[in-house]
Amino acid sequence: MTRRTALITGASAGIGTSFARLLAAEGHDLLLVARRADRLTALADELHRRHGVRVETCAADLTDLGAPRAVTAFAAEQGMTVDVLVNNAGTSSSTAFADTSWTVLAGELQLMVTAVTELTHLVVPGMKERGWGRVVNLSSLAAFSPPAASLLYSGIKSYVLYVSQALDMELKPHGVHVTALCPGFTHTEFHQEMGVADAASKLPAFVWQEADDVVREGWAAVSAGKPVCVPGAVNKVLSHATRPVPYRLQYALGRRFNPLEA
Ligand SMILES: NC(=O)c1ccc[n+]([C@@H]2O[C@H](COP(=O)([O-])OP(=O)(O)OC[C@H]3O[C@@H](n4cnc5c(N)ncnc54)[C@H](OP(=O)(O)O)[C@@H]3O)[C@@H](O)[C@H]2O)c1
Repeated sequence: MTRRTALITGASAGIGTSFARLLAAEGHDLLLVARRADRLTALADELHRRHGVRVETCAADLTDLGAPRAVTAFAAEQGMTVDVLVNNAGTSSSTAFADTSWTVLAGELQLMVTAVTELTHLVVPGMKERGWGRVVNLSSLAAFSPPAASLLYSGIKSYVLYVSQALDMELKPHGVHVTALCPGFTHTEFHQEMGVADAASKLPAFVWQEADDVVREGWAAVSAGKPVCVPGAVNKVLSHATRPVPYRLQYALGRRFNPLEA
């Protein structure tokens, strides 16, 4: 049987690297995308040596408008057909909306909304035609949480949560599963990148998960055709706990626990 190919964005760290490791171990060929080419190359060498799979790398900044097209054109040049797409690359600013430049905010929207949607749009027709495909979109527990003042992050991850479910409804009859993977606090470089590693390190140990555990549960969910996956028992409880809360109370909670004023 020909091996399936997985395109993973944000493969140079954290959850993306864990996806690369898991999917290589299962025998997938990989196309790894992120900005840090050196990290991608080192991971590609390691995974090829260990599992004998083909691993190509494509250094790209997904805040660039042309990046999704460039990445899928690169895949086509390499003769790689994308069977699995993991839209994982992400980041978040930790400054107030009014104090953050439009360049930064537009970059977040491009990276986590437009590039996610465009990459999906570029690969899904082929998956549908072949009658098989798997798409994992990284949302967040933040999509279930009370809104947090000033940050785009909850809104962006809510978009990913809702659109993933809509796409799954449309595509599942054609053999294409789409899952919104919604982790809570996960040990990666994310909070360090945000500049909130110190505050995050004060959170109790029980709210944290390891990236490998998040990925194992997320991959099992998309394989089983579950449109939403909240990994870990604590996160599952939290995601349900905030759901029945009326919007006015959610708003009040969001204001009370505003991370920008912590
Ligand atoms: N960690 C958590 O607690 C948590 C919780 C919920 C959801 N998530 C979501 O999980 C996903 C992965 O995050 P993580 O925790 O693994 O964070 P991470 O360790 O900081 O990794 C982020 C990845 O995204 C890539 N990336 C960032 N900006 C990019 C850009 N402009 N172009 C291309 N790639 C870019 C980074 O690669 P380069 O820097 O090399 O480009 C890196 O590979 C994100 O979507 C995040 O929102 C994380």
